[in-house]
Amino acid sequence: MKLAVAGKGGVGKTTLTVWLADWLQRNGHEVWLVDADTALSLGPALGLPENEIPTALVQQKELIENRVGSGGFINMNPYVDDLPDKLGIKVRGMRLLVMGTIAGAGGGCGCAPNALLKKFITHLVLQRSQSLLIDLEAGVEHLGRGTVASVDGLLVVSEPSMRGLKTAETISRLAYDLGLKNQVLALNKTAEDFDFPENLALPPLAACIPRLISLEKRQVQSASVLDLEERDFIDVQCKEILSYFQ
Ligand SMILES: Nc1ncnc2c1ncn2[C@@H]1O[C@H](COP(=O)(O)OP(=O)(O)OP(=O)(O)O)[C@@H](O)[C@H]1O
Ligand SMILES: [Mg+2]
Repeated sequence: MKLAVAGKGGVGKTTLTVWLADWLQRNGHEVWLVDADTALSLGPALGLPENEIPTALVQQKELIENRVGSGGFINMNPYVDDLPDKLGIKVRGMRLLVMGTIAGAGGGCGCAPNALLKKFITHLVLQRSQSLLIDLEAGVEHLGRGTVASVDGLLVVSEPSMRGLKTAETISRLAYDLGLKNQVLALNKTAEDFDFPENLALPPLAACIPRLISLEKRQVQSASVLDLEERDFIDVQCKEILSYFQ
């Protein structure tokens, strides 16, 4: 199963990505995680200390130059088959790939880091059999790149706010237009009796997760979102979300 996780900034994309990955790993799946955000917060959310987080792929100048070239000659089809094993670091039985993103690059950018990033993600999605979860940057820009469109499903995360839900709607429509029709919505940090505003075209609601006090308390000390006392409840939500993609 290969999923991308998207939504407005700060709604819980990284948190849900880690919860899903952890559930899959504990249930016997081989899990690969891709951090495709500029903030690079997936490692810390897995409990990885800052000094163990590898340099993001988009910042590895030498590697980019080796694979893609520089100056006027850019290989738009670089060799990447060896990169998952070379760059993926082991965390809690999973593999983390820190890719980063190209800020402001836009859909049509042909710059070298983007060429490598695009080919790498496409390789992971199309050539690898492991479970893959891609934590995307906030917003919708990445959906135009043509890489994310080939995943099996999209988890759209929102808070119970008009802005969050409007962004969710935009992301959902864009992904749908790109052919990514298998989508679900997870509402995070929400009250159970939340009334959806009318006239929003949103994916089916797969999970409602309340604001977890234990996580809020934890975040003052640590960025990890794992091993919470609510794990059984989180597991049920993860199972429900993943059931939509099977
Ligand atoms: N259900 C929850 N209860 C309490 N706190 C939560 C919950 N979900 C996420 N958080 C907290 O909210 C903050 C934002 O979450 P997270 O980093 O997962 O969002 P994001 O959408 O990935 O943000 P960004 O757009 O910056 O990448 C974090 O501090 C996280 O611990
Ligand atoms: Mg994030």
